[in-house]
Amino acid sequence: MTQALLLIRTKMYNRYILRKNRKGNVVMGTLTEAIQRHHLSLAKTLAAHARGVDGEPDSERDSFVAFLKGDLLPHARGEERHLYESIDALVREHGRPTATMMVDHEFITAYVTKIEGITRQLKTAGDGDRPRLLRQLRELSLQLDAIVQLHLAKEERVYLPLLERYVDEARQREILHAVHETYEEERIMPNDRPLDVRNVVPRERHTLIFDTFAALKPGDAFVLINDHDPRPLYYQFEVEHTGQFSWDYLEQGPEVWRVRIGRRG
Ligand SMILES: [Fe+2]
Ligand SMILES: [Fe+2]
Repeated sequence: MTQALLLIRTKMYNRYILRKNRKGNVVMGTLTEAIQRHHLSLAKTLAAHARGVDGEPDSERDSFVAFLKGDLLPHARGEERHLYESIDALVREHGRPTATMMVDHEFITAYVTKIEGITRQLKTAGDGDRPRLLRQLRELSLQLDAIVQLHLAKEERVYLPLLERYVDEARQREILHAVHETYEEERIMPNDRPLDVRNVVPRERHTLIFDTFAALKPGDAFVLINDHDPRPLYYQFEVEHTGQFSWDYLEQGPEVWRVRIGRRG
């Protein structure tokens, strides 16, 4: 490594590893701090490049590629070589290996909510807003596409081979059946009845909602439409109908909240 390159590397390293304490002295930060800081910087740089990628000049794209190869990929390699080994052991002992997949699902759900929101806005948007909304919709859809592709690859390359190898066929069929049942239960039926409580006086809302739930057949659902996050209602359902209901946010504000509330089969 040349002297100059070494200096740049050291500077980069210091930027993430060192920080000032309360007294203003430079100290070594924690591993978490350093990684979070590096992540933040990677994410910011990546987002900035992504926005400018179809602009001018060519040198902008060259510096994008330089960043990808010179910063993003080395970060991944550093983690693979030195961080994941420790993480593997920790997850085995204290963690839940599928927790990372749940984070994916959380992101996927958030993207769906955003895409639905923009799709609805587009129906009434004026000509002035349409190009911006369409551009956002396209960006979000492509980002979701990338996340889903990655997620499916993880399930297919890491999880399914484990099932194939270590779980007998009868149990595999049981799992498949259970997965499919939940899928059917949670599917949003186009004929889900909407229950808009925005014009109902607040003290009558919960009674109306619980009456509607009581009238549901197993597997059926309604879509609650509200002007605030009905979180407290969720907790009430948890207490009064433990294990009997499903709860899926279809839209989470800022003006309208829509939740599909179903009765489990
Ligand atoms: Fe990372
Ligand atoms: Fe999944």
